[in-house]
Amino acid sequence: MVAIEKHTSTYPVNHTALKNWVKQIADQCKPDQVYWCDGSREEYDEMCNELVEKGTFIRLNESKRPNSFACFSDPSDVARVEDRTFICSRKKEDAGPTNNWVDPREMKQTLNKLLDGCMKGRTMYVIPFSMGPIGSDISHIGIQITDSEYVVANMHIMTRAGTKVIDALGSGGEFVKALHTLGAPLSAGQADVKWPCNPTTKYIVHYPEERSIVSYGSGYGGNALLGKKCFALRIASTMAQEEDWLAEHMLILGVESPDKEKTYVAAAFPSACGKTNFAMLIPPKEIGGWKVTTVGDDIAWIKPGKDGKLYAINPEAGYFGVAPGTNVKSNPNAMKTIEKNTIFTNVAVTDDGDIWWEGMTKEPPKNLIGWTGQKWDPTSGKPAAHPNARFTAPASQCPSIDSDWENPNGVPISAFIFGGRRSNTIPLIYQAHNWNYGVYLAATMGSEMTAAAFGEIGKVRRDPFAMLPFCGYHMGEYFNHWLQFGRDIQNPPRIFGVNWFRKDEKGNFLWPGFGDNMRVLKWIVEKVRGKSNAVESPIGWMPHYEDIDWTGLDFTKQQFDQIMQIDREQWKTELHSHAELFERMYDRLPKEFIFMRELLLSSLWRSPEKWSVEGD
Ligand code: OXD
Ligand code: MN
Repeated sequence: MVAIEKHTSTYPVNHTALKNWVKQIADQCKPDQVYWCDGSREEYDEMCNELVEKGTFIRLNESKRPNSFACFSDPSDVARVEDRTFICSRKKEDAGPTNNWVDPREMKQTLNKLLDGCMKGRTMYVIPFSMGPIGSDISHIGIQITDSEYVVANMHIMTRAGTKVIDALGSGGEFVKALHTLGAPLSAGQADVKWPCNPTTKYIVHYPEERSIVSYGSGYGGNALLGKKCFALRIASTMAQEEDWLAEHMLILGVESPDKEKTYVAAAFPSACGKTNFAMLIPPKEIGGWKVTTVGDDIAWIKPGKDGKLYAINPEAGYFGVAPGTNVKSNPNAMKTIEKNTIFTNVAVTDDGDIWWEGMTKEPPKNLIGWTGQKWDPTSGKPAAHPNARFTAPASQCPSIDSDWENPNGVPISAFIFGGRRSNTIPLIYQAHNWNYGVYLAATMGSEMTAAAFGEIGKVRRDPFAMLPFCGYHMGEYFNHWLQFGRDIQNPPRIFGVNWFRKDEKGNFLWPGFGDNMRVLKWIVEKVRGKSNAVESPIGWMPHYEDIDWTGLDFTKQQFDQIMQIDREQWKTELHSHAELFERMYDRLPKEFIFMRELLLSSLWRSPEKWSVEGD
């Protein structure tokens, strides 16, 4: 049993508003006890031991995966629940057409009933956490209340948590209120289950004006680790709009050239487009002297500096990465990051106490326990690991971690990259002519769906800035914010579009991807440094074949032409569907977008039916 008294009696809180809020929540949720987390290593170990005792955690083989654990969730609780996610702004128009909205008064009534006694039989943990390095002007503080030990352990890895945050908060500092409950109270004597949650009722609710979050019924990932999507994106995006900064669904990486110059870029890709792989990319050995370093793999907070440049931090301290598909080839750095001190959720477990998932090795090991907790039958046609299985690992363990990843001043961003999963239409790489068009490019980004959860597989889902499920306010206003932001900074980063996923008529990928993405990244970095050439296409600037470094890769001019081709008919269809997106948010859509669409249409009309870089 966790030593509760030790903390409640000696915990150094002088913040009256915080103490009052915690008391109010305790009165409502009626836990057996309240525990203030100190963020220590000892506390993390206690939490993990408790989870092992409860049967939630399986301690992995110490010689293979030191200090690491695996767990299996309830089958009803395996991913973010977008249809149960709400932005409860005072006015419906402020949530916009892409968010679920309920009047906050009505939502509070519903939640108040559910929250009454929801932590009975459990411990209520109070986790002070900082998103971003403590003391940085770009960071912000949150307090998460939760009745889940699994959440406490994960928050220890994913954020800077504990008394040091209370110290930074002082007696009157601002914090985001993040209340989480499993929605699974225990009556006297009732035994707990391994993965408590509410299998039928889930609510992930944001009150943007109050900067508060209430999450009910789920113990998984972004539904429960409230610093991540709920705070660092949905609530922070509304803060950023008010305070003139950016909270983005972006990885941040550094590119070091042979002359040791460092260029940082931030990149947005929708879920399931290999963001973590790109953030930890290892250049092919033939691209001599170039190095990629990792600042963040999922979220970027970006503020303008006094010198007119943009500075970014990764608000997180760990990676909550998708496990399946990760292997020594696709992402060797991730494989090294998860060698120890890692929590694995919904992966398969081997008979010698290690972990496995689809894509880790060609052949699955024998005698696996699947993510359902049962012996896995390889002939069942079902995966051993859940497709959304995750690892939670400290960022500091990543071999490619950037030396400035915790710099409180952030790192200067020179380029933004946007890319979806598109089997046609979108070329491998192009650069927007200017900031406004770059914002248009990002706003109209789309990705082909890979999971039936969101609609028809293969159909393009528009995912503006990869923020569709994460923007805490009206998406049209978000576009306006980006446009205005660019006008206000002296030296805006250049904006690029990429597509690693284009296919030929037979359905084969045209691009090798992974480490070879370095070739594209190198052109981007040299372009922003004024060192590489480009040709003007109907949709932006593009490299010539010879502008890309092909050393060590057999990729012909014809192949390049094919992957860069602009097909007029496909683009007409594309622009048509941009109009569909715009109609959804017509009342707040920037006027610029209408003109830019027209301009694109007319430049496509003037170009050949199949425009190619080399044919130009
Ligand atoms: C994530 C996502 O989990 O984008 O990071 O869905
Ligand atoms: Mn993400």
